[in-house]
Amino acid sequence: MLVLGGTAEARALADTLTARGHHVTTSLAGRTRDPRLPAGEVRTGGFGGAEGLATALRHVDLLVDATHPFAERMSDHAAQAATTTGTPWVVLRRPGWTEGSGDRWVRVPTTSAAAGALGDAGSVFLAIGRQGVHHFAALEQVRLVRAIEPPDVLPPRAHLILQRGPFALDDERALLAEHRIDTIVAKDSGGATEAKLVAAREAGVVVVLVDRPAPPGGARTVPDVDTAVEWVENTPN
Ligand SMILES: NC(=O)c1ccc[n+]([C@@H]2O[C@H](COP(=O)([O-])OP(=O)(O)OC[C@H]3O[C@@H](n4cnc5c(N)ncnc54)[C@H](OP(=O)(O)O)[C@@H]3O)[C@@H](O)[C@H]2O)c1
Repeated sequence: MLVLGGTAEARALADTLTARGHHVTTSLAGRTRDPRLPAGEVRTGGFGGAEGLATALRHVDLLVDATHPFAERMSDHAAQAATTTGTPWVVLRRPGWTEGSGDRWVRVPTTSAAAGALGDAGSVFLAIGRQGVHHFAALEQVRLVRAIEPPDVLPPRAHLILQRGPFALDDERALLAEHRIDTIVAKDSGGATEAKLVAAREAGVVVVLVDRPAPPGGARTVPDVDTAVEWVENTPN
């Protein structure tokens, strides 16, 4: 089967399925220079749009789209290609986060809307990864940018930290204090990178949270690796 990867869940799924005797190929976009690799085979690089993916699917029994919730284009291509080829297909997407007592969240629909919402947000920590930083390129409020790979542009007063999550709560607390952060901009990715949200709640820091795009129309979505394994093992191919 083919797993469209780039997430911790995709890696865990490939590891589990391989250990259970399935033949798994994980596909990575190739954005990260030194990715953590899953068990099984790995291929790297784009397919050449939905048509290219459909060609690849001719050699595949089942498709799991385990890409990041914000990898919208790849998920759309997966939906189109699986429909064209009749390949059984599922989207593994971890649930988003829910605002709790003490949180000071402002939800926005897109990354560019987050940039527009900053106004007098004080010192801003951009925790959205490398993509989308260009929307903030002119904003002096941004004092801290964290990503795995360097973004193409950096806001004029931003300090860049190159690090891969997940991050420990104590480290997130220390980071917010050291840089005197008033506002964090983050994507509603869900999953294990939530320590920054806990640290923000404790410190009264505002979080501008970018809503995730809806999964493609017609998608069957499962929330975790165990349910994806169940789907794989119960789907005739
Ligand atoms: N967006 C995020 O915030 C984010 C965060 C963490 C991890 N990631 C991971 O980083 C990768 C790229 O994300 P993105 O947001 O740039 O994707 P995207 O905008 O949805 O996709 C852009 C293009 O990249 C190629 N691509 C994306 N994911 C691929 C995969 N798993 N295998 C092969 N090709 C892939 C496809 O090229 P072709 O059209 O040529 O096939 C796709 O059309 C994904 O694997 C995603 O899971 C993304």
